[in-house]
Amino acid sequence: MKKNISSKNWIKKQHSDFYVRESKAKGYRSRSAFKLIELNKKFGFINKNTILLDLGSCPGGWSQVAKKIIKNGKILAVDIKEMEKIDKVEFIKADIENKDIFKKIYFYFEKEFDVVISDIAANTTGNKNLDSYKTGDLCMASMNLAKNVLQVNGVFLSKLFMGSVFKEIYEKAKKHFKFVRTYKPQSSRKESKEIYIYCKGVYKNF
Ligand SMILES: C[S@@+](CC[C@H](N)C(=O)[O-])C[C@H]1O[C@@H](n2cnc3c(N)ncnc32)[C@H](O)[C@@H]1O
Repeated sequence: MKKNISSKNWIKKQHSDFYVRESKAKGYRSRSAFKLIELNKKFGFINKNTILLDLGSCPGGWSQVAKKIIKNGKILAVDIKEMEKIDKVEFIKADIENKDIFKKIYFYFEKEFDVVISDIAANTTGNKNLDSYKTGDLCMASMNLAKNVLQVNGVFLSKLFMGSVFKEIYEKAKKHFKFVRTYKPQSSRKESKEIYIYCKGVYKNF
């Protein structure tokens, strides 16, 4: 009964949500697409030549947005789940916490990446603290991967949740990147603790 009410509420929320309607109208696979559009408007890190890695890419909204901008660059998307094909987007089905993934990604285009974006979120358990902690772990894993596959002026952008792990992640980002900012796009639901961290310029000798 409880589950029924909460799924009814979810459906109601989806119907009344401007960004859900817009994503359907514009053919995006997720409402998250609008977060990347806003983040790129704010920080301007994706251009027509960008070589981009999209971590936690499924169902593909961010890859669709990147593909519209990137004309001469390349896109590699990675998710633990299978992703329906997007033209001109390469895809690897893998867990980013698996230690073999680094080599696969690093050698994929035989070039370093200009941008790594990560919208990875752990499967929700209903326990908000645990979920935010697990997503924090995945953000750390994405950051570790990013600093090794990015070119020296590269950009790492990732979702994380405000909460106990936020400070730890922010401090770690400041150790590895020259410029670090956080930003919550308008399209991110107000009630969500989600925020995005934007990092530019890798300290390669750290
Ligand atoms: C919020 S969705 C991403 C939405 C995507 N940015 C879009 O616009 O369509 C989060 C994704 O992270 C993926 N994910 C979770 N844990 C992962 C892991 N360990 N390795 C790779 N992907 C993972 C999930 O499968 C899910 O598809």
